[in-house]
Amino acid sequence: MKGIILAAGKGTRLYPISYPISKILLPVYNKPMIYYPLSTLILAGIKEIMIITNKDDQENFKKTLGDGSRFGVNITYEVQYEQRGIADAFIIAEDFIANERVVLILGDNIYHGACMRNLLGKAARNKEGCTVFVYEVPDPERFGVAELDPQNNVISLEEKPSSPKSNYAVTGLYFYDSNVCGFAKKLEPSARGELEITDLNKVYLSNGNLKACVMEHGYTWLDAGTFESFRDAANTVHGIEDRTDRMVGCPEDAAAEVGFMTAAEIRELIINEKSEYYDRVRKRLDGL
Ligand code: G1P
Repeated sequence: MKGIILAAGKGTRLYPISYPISKILLPVYNKPMIYYPLSTLILAGIKEIMIITNKDDQENFKKTLGDGSRFGVNITYEVQYEQRGIADAFIIAEDFIANERVVLILGDNIYHGACMRNLLGKAARNKEGCTVFVYEVPDPERFGVAELDPQNNVISLEEKPSSPKSNYAVTGLYFYDSNVCGFAKKLEPSARGELEITDLNKVYLSNGNLKACVMEHGYTWLDAGTFESFRDAANTVHGIEDRTDRMVGCPEDAAAEVGFMTAAEIRELIINEKSEYYDRVRKRLDGL
């Protein structure tokens, strides 16, 4: 299974702080935002990862993550030259996906929960169709919204509806079968000229092949796209890391948890690192 992080947006809702650098490289408490989606893909057991960026920021992403070997994964980079929408990722990454199954995560989506690895494993076991992760929110009109039946099957999907049919936001983490590139290529651009992820998911819905994983209490999902949610994300991560011995969005920790690297290998790589972040990583590794 392949993994894609879409980090190509301009982050206009965070201007002026995202003028000089991609929003996805801005710090969320003690690490760059990209660490969070990267950790989620690692926890899902994915080693082959493509990061899609805009042209100007690609070098900065490479400086931040390199080839991924520090985290036991293999990272390649691609550019999205025009803002053609989220589903465009599957056209850009078609050769990389090479007819395998693929997980897409949006660069500003942060997931946390003690059982996150199990939940990801559950989604990965759905070998056919598409699985989305839904989360109850007070402001569903800001997101893609899924209406569910009592068995949690998706009945309808709408992108940022003015009158949402439920409070379930479709979060920015999607598991697809190998049909996804073919479906993406057949999509028509929306009124705003983009290939919409919700339109792609509706293809799976109309084929009876769209499943929802409900993230119940005990999971945290944050989309750090606005000033408010960006600040909330930093506060939430700080709150969790301050009060527990856990780390949120730590790719070293995730790599050790899934066995991509041993604690000894990570310790050796960070031996000269002095920041509080690395002190925490060492403490986590000691506890493994
Ligand atoms: C995108 C998707 C939306 C989803 C959201 C999650 O919206 O279009 O369906 O709920 O990500 O973060 P955007 O944040 O790009 O407006």
